[in-house]
Amino acid sequence: MTPPSSLVTRRRLTANLSAFGLASLALPGLAEAQALPATPACEAPASGTRRQTEGPYFTPSSPLKRDLRGDGPGDALVLSGFVLTRQCQPLSGALIDLWHADTGGQYDNAGFRFRGHQYTDAQGRYQFITRIPGFYPGRTRHFHVKVQAGSRPVLTTQLYFPEERAANQRDRIFDASLLMTVTGATGGQLGRFDFVLAD
Ligand SMILES: [Fe+2]
Repeated sequence: MTPPSSLVTRRRLTANLSAFGLASLALPGLAEAQALPATPACEAPASGTRRQTEGPYFTPSSPLKRDLRGDGPGDALVLSGFVLTRQCQPLSGALIDLWHADTGGQYDNAGFRFRGHQYTDAQGRYQFITRIPGFYPGRTRHFHVKVQAGSRPVLTTQLYFPEERAANQRDRIFDASLLMTVTGATGGQLGRFDFVLAD
């Protein structure tokens, strides 16, 4: 697989980082999304985030895009967190590639609906605004992600919703260590997950 960061120019990375400020991410009714703590909760040495299959629907070269809400209907969710080393040090400039099904459980395999990537800011924070994905046969509700920082190996994994207890238990891929913390907010939900990359 081609590392996703190799597809993005340094100029675009610099432009994106300079534009990334949590204050600029405030949404109507989702002001709580700005409340990431100054430092992540992490005890070194932390275990690396578990890897999972990318599945059959990964498409390389996703667009640089933070707000995916225009890609289809559904309830809004702000997904945010840190990218950390096993020593709990934030990693700036790490690439996060997100892809997921639409509210009807369909992936866009011809284009880039509900596909996009972002970079962590100087404090190691990332954030997406998207729609809550629907179910498709055999799977519980989930996001797919790839995370890459520098020369470290690409982390490919999936994120899960804690409120889907029954569906999570039935899913043969589900891993409880990959549950997001999800809280309600006016106008949507807030999903939080911190990625820990292997050395
Ligand atoms: Fe999937």
